[in-house]
Amino acid sequence: MSIKAIQCVAWGGPELLQLRDVELPEPGPRQVRVRVHAAGVNFPDVLIIQKKYQMQPPLPFTPGAEVAGVVEAVGSDVTTLKVGTTVAAVCGIGGFAQACIVEAAQCMPLPPGTPMDLAASFGLAYGTSWHAVRDRAALQPGETLLVLGAAGGVGLAAVEIGKAIGARVIAAASDEAKLAICKEHGADEVINYEDDDLRAALKALTDGKGPDVIFDPVGGKFAEAAFRSIAWRGRYLVIGFAAGEVPSLPLNLPLLKGASIVGVFWGEFAKREPAANARGMLELVRWMGEGKIKPRISKHYALSEAPQALMDMAARRVVGKVVVAP
Ligand SMILES: NC(=O)c1ccc[n+]([C@@H]2O[C@H](COP(=O)([O-])OP(=O)(O)OC[C@H]3O[C@@H](n4cnc5c(N)ncnc54)[C@H](OP(=O)(O)O)[C@@H]3O)[C@@H](O)[C@H]2O)c1
Repeated sequence: MSIKAIQCVAWGGPELLQLRDVELPEPGPRQVRVRVHAAGVNFPDVLIIQKKYQMQPPLPFTPGAEVAGVVEAVGSDVTTLKVGTTVAAVCGIGGFAQACIVEAAQCMPLPPGTPMDLAASFGLAYGTSWHAVRDRAALQPGETLLVLGAAGGVGLAAVEIGKAIGARVIAAASDEAKLAICKEHGADEVINYEDDDLRAALKALTDGKGPDVIFDPVGGKFAEAAFRSIAWRGRYLVIGFAAGEVPSLPLNLPLLKGASIVGVFWGEFAKREPAANARGMLELVRWMGEGKIKPRISKHYALSEAPQALMDMAARRVVGKVVVAP
């Protein structure tokens, strides 16, 4: 039997991806096969097909790092899941397909009625931003959080998490429409970092003190300007480098501010510290129930349109989360 899958057959941009018929995959002893109802789109999907991500699977492979769907086959050692269970799962690769293989330990059973698109686009972005803002930076009520790339997947999640904690949130993004959406999701102040001088704007908005915590999924030219503005005892969260350039910072800067540069790698955190990650997920689900976080899914794509979804993400056209629905 075969299924439809988006395949990366050569390293390069999304335009090289192909929709192909592939053999239905069989789960190993500790794995399950999930019939994919929705697959979340994340920036690492853009990187992995270009051989720019830390994990480099052999060609050909199917990208797509997280899914929601129904378990349709279980491996011989799996006791925690059964056929018919609805789950959300982080699979790393394989998600842009009609079915994919996932480690049973990476599956989270879903309460009845959970929308599949929401389930497929929640864990990676909100998990990353919770781990960063709550766990690594220990953001406190009343502190100021600056979020760069604030209208993107992890960025908008960080804005909402900052507000749920009780912080003042400054959102920075590249155009007015994106900034209006950040305000809708709770940002107290906004900065257009393409048009305005980031340092001057931060100085004005914080009475010269600077933000206590900076969440940076962008890197590139904004990193040093943002770090030079950080408050005394500030925490600078290194999330990713969507701008393409990994910035370098002079080490006298953290010395002068008594500030920390804090690395964030959610995938590794979730593997090494599953209990802490589960605590984060529970808090996020509680906040969602209280209406404090409202994930924004701005667009749905058919499976054949997954390459277009990745092109839109690479071209900065995505707001919040987008989803591929096979
Ligand atoms: N550390 C971790 O554990 C972890 C986990 C998940 C994701 N990440 C990383 O976090 C970053 C964001 O991921 P995401 O899924 O939230 O992506 P996303 O939704 O595409 O958001 C990225 C944002 O970066 C900004 N950006 C600036 N220059 C860009 C460029 N040249 N190309 C694309 N975007 C650019 C865009 O905002 P403006 O247009 O407003 O500038 C965009 O909204 C990526 O680097 C990803 O690898 C890290």
